[in-house]
Amino acid sequence: MDDAADALQDGNASREALLAALSLQLAWGVDEALEAAPLDRTVPRPEAAIPRVAPGSAPAGPSMGRGADGDGLFPGEAAPPAARRPPPRPAEVLAPAALRAADLAAGAESLEALKAAMERFDASLRDTATNIVFSDGVAESGLMLIGEAPGADEDRLGKPFVGVSGRLLDRMVASIGLDRSRNFYLTNILCWRPPGNRTPTDAEVSLFLPFARRHIALARPRHVVLLGGTAAKALLGAREGITRLRGRWHRLEIEGLGTVPALATLHPAYLLRQPSAKREAWQDLLMLRRALDGETPKGF
Ligand code: URA
Repeated sequence: MDDAADALQDGNASREALLAALSLQLAWGVDEALEAAPLDRTVPRPEAAIPRVAPGSAPAGPSMGRGADGDGLFPGEAAPPAARRPPPRPAEVLAPAALRAADLAAGAESLEALKAAMERFDASLRDTATNIVFSDGVAESGLMLIGEAPGADEDRLGKPFVGVSGRLLDRMVASIGLDRSRNFYLTNILCWRPPGNRTPTDAEVSLFLPFARRHIALARPRHVVLLGGTAAKALLGAREGITRLRGRWHRLEIEGLGTVPALATLHPAYLLRQPSAKREAWQDLLMLRRALDGETPKGF
């Protein structure tokens, strides 16, 4: 009985210590998870994770965080030399996630079903995000804008483009008479926020691409606007950067929908950093306005 009471007391004490440690972190400004799984730094590092670089040998490659793939390293820790690294994961180990994404996306027959399928899809990004960010605006409007991935504000509110770059986007499109509550539909390639607002990896973009393509097929837009390099390169399958892709209508082939004219343009977050590029963005907006007014996009 005494043992049980002691154990209970110990349990409560360690729970209190954990809560105290957590509130200390909050007081220090830690307000988000950066890794897919919690990392207990009070336990000794596993042997395998400690880089063994002989003194005087060439430094190891760029530091790699322990990311979605769970490479066994601590954040910021250098990878062990190649000879000690575990063999690369064979493609067939990674393929099931991609196949599952493609299956789930293809099986969705409505936007609601697609959102539910994306919520079910067990991507590691889901574990560190707060809310799914599926879409905003009017799906039936005929115009669909596609960005990269949610940021902190989007993650908190569950809607795309509601932060600083979203406010710039709203002002930009307002200048050609568009409002998200009436004239367009808005989504991202990724529906979960990458931890710490990092740029999505190529692997994450390809994993979520079937959902983005199905999203377009279900919304059936007559025009698409690709905001920034990630969306443009992913959906157009292009290698060029956004500065080469922007300012033109591209032929976006979507299964079950056909060819949709897609205009690539600069991402509002880029325009916040490079205000001088707003001139080009304005030219793109005028191209969009002309197309919405009935001009046939070049090449269609
Ligand atoms: N940037 C994006 O690409 N999408 C958002 O929803 C917000 C910022």
